[in-house]
Amino acid sequence: MTAGIGSDLERAAAHLRAGELVAIPTETVYGLAANALDADASLRIFEAKERPAFDPLIVHVRSRAQALELCETPSAEALALMDAFWPGPLTLVLTKRAAIPDMVTSGLDTVALRQPAHPLTAELLARLSFPLAAPSANLFGRTSPTTAQHVAEQLGDRIAYILDGGTCAVGVESTILGWEERRLVLYRPGGTPLEAIERIFGHVGAAQRRVLPAAPGMLAAHYAPRTPLELRELGELDARLAGLAGRRVAVLAFDRARPAHACRVLSARGDPAEAAHRLFSSLRELDASGADLILAEPVPEVGLGRAINDRLRRAAAARSGQA
Ligand code: TXA
Ligand code: MG
Repeated sequence: MTAGIGSDLERAAAHLRAGELVAIPTETVYGLAANALDADASLRIFEAKERPAFDPLIVHVRSRAQALELCETPSAEALALMDAFWPGPLTLVLTKRAAIPDMVTSGLDTVALRQPAHPLTAELLARLSFPLAAPSANLFGRTSPTTAQHVAEQLGDRIAYILDGGTCAVGVESTILGWEERRLVLYRPGGTPLEAIERIFGHVGAAQRRVLPAAPGMLAAHYAPRTPLELRELGELDARLAGLAGRRVAVLAFDRARPAHACRVLSARGDPAEAAHRLFSSLRELDASGADLILAEPVPEVGLGRAINDRLRRAAAARSGQA
């Protein structure tokens, strides 16, 4: 089977109604979607991604009203977060209702919900009577896809259809928030900047409790290219590069190019949002450049920079055995 690629919404809807897998565009990254109310359909997501079953999926809803059918009555703070940031790159972990199969949440009593902002997927959700479970549409542990082509390269022979919505605008996954003892906590930095959340809701703490046996975006090693990746603190990169003279080294730089086997600059104007938009496709290009090593530098820890550094740390950990 080779997946069709196109923007045929009715075809995408028909596959999903039949319990099949369809890759969908979102403003963050492409998702690998199935009917979230159908345990068998959701199981196919885990199989196609080779994702461990202990790793729960995000459920995508068409509206706040649909979200409220899937979780126990949310707190005033949760509702205010939906008002402020939906549709958009923010996922909320809420107490689940029985309609969501245990397969989707890996047996947890909570469900991760978000309303995506991509127009094509919004239209798709509007045509369907059910929400969509969708993790990022990559093989487990690997670089997330930001174009339909990226999805086809890794999963094209395992899914029914790829709904092509162009290049993802944000480029890193959603920010995930939850509650511990009724206090708002951050599970994963992502496409909604922490500053924007804290401006309205005050300080957001770091998650203390380990809710999950493990969670993909939270595993130390994740988002990894095939080529080993080293993250070098600001200033150290140039010295390391000089020390590797003669080796095929690719550089993932924030705002300034370096002479190397291959180099990608994430944002020449030093803009973390532009850098996030380019992050995963740049990683893929460097991975395909034939380099023996990718050297990366962290970006400033502001706005989407927090999410970028998180992904780079995990991609680096994949090769240093910290998984
Ligand atoms: O932007 C995104 O969030 C993308 C697009 C496709 O929406 N999706 C995405 O899915 O990044 P995935 O599977 O790569 O990451 C899902 C994250 C994982 O870290 C998972 O553990 C966490 O969501 N998660 C899901 N359900 C959870 C729950 N009940 N409690 C805590 N974390 C949960
Ligand atoms: Mg992922």
